[in-house]
Amino acid sequence: MSNVISRRGFLLGVAAAGYAAAAQDMVARDENFSVFLSDPHVPGDGTKLDKNHVEHDPAYMYKRLAATVDEVLAMRPMPARVVVFGDIAYLRGERADYEKTKPLFDKLAAEGIDVVFGMGNHDHRAAFFDTYPGWRERTCVPGEVVTKVSLGHADLLMLDTLTENTSAPGVTNPGNGSLSERQAAWLAQEATKATRPFFVGAHHHIHEVGTKVGGKSLGAFLIKQPLFRGYIHGHHHFWKTDRLLDWGRYTVRRVATLPSVGFWGDLGHALFRTAPHLAQLRPVIKEFCFPRHQPDPAKCPATWAAIVADAQNATCRFPLDG
Ligand SMILES: [Fe+2]
Repeated sequence: MSNVISRRGFLLGVAAAGYAAAAQDMVARDENFSVFLSDPHVPGDGTKLDKNHVEHDPAYMYKRLAATVDEVLAMRPMPARVVVFGDIAYLRGERADYEKTKPLFDKLAAEGIDVVFGMGNHDHRAAFFDTYPGWRERTCVPGEVVTKVSLGHADLLMLDTLTENTSAPGVTNPGNGSLSERQAAWLAQEATKATRPFFVGAHHHIHEVGTKVGGKSLGAFLIKQPLFRGYIHGHHHFWKTDRLLDWGRYTVRRVATLPSVGFWGDLGHALFRTAPHLAQLRPVIKEFCFPRHQPDPAKCPATWAAIVADAQNATCRFPLDG
């Protein structure tokens, strides 16, 4: 029996290997599956901590993010993307904060998971771009962190609602959300030219973004867009849902608020899946804490456990047909 492989056999073998690799790739990452994270607030080495966080386990936010990354990597299939809805940095957008968490996000990227970032009110764009220089080119609005990504059967227009205090590196920013004129124009163009359902993501709640888009408030503008299907944001650190109403056309759209990965409030992440006619967001709440993590569960107030228990079967459905 010959060990020589014919040219045809060789080519068939290569093709089979290619198909097998492609099949494995499909199994490994689900294009319709995304993990949404928000508000990790991880301090860097040397970042000065607020008094609330020096009293015990100042590394808790890092540990929660690291555990979340490991949980994502253990998912089968893995999500095609992880979207981070801002407040990546601890409180003042310091470069050390971004450097601390970059190896964690790089672990996701190394597995082919697209890591999509947005900016929160505790971020600083210069420190972010210094740590992730590729985002200077990736952004759809130069100088800001704005992206359009596919979520499978719908798109996500990821906004940058950070109102930045650029007087010096590492200074505190205002808490309110806003859009630059260029970003508002980009959003108006993307929303009106959309050919399939789309979601809008941002750090701030839709009612906390003070900028007019197309001459209207952000909510009033978006709900008039025929293919707008929902708004997802962070900043509040609580899993909750809200509604956006259009009394002119009797249209309702849903707004969902994400938990914080590990800072305070509802701690966890959320799973977002799309199918041809439906998108669904499901929170994964690990614990509740306010204001600080309590390492001894026996000392946690009963209300904390009740909040976690109530979140276990929560979901937010977004019909894609309107
Ligand atoms: Fe925030």
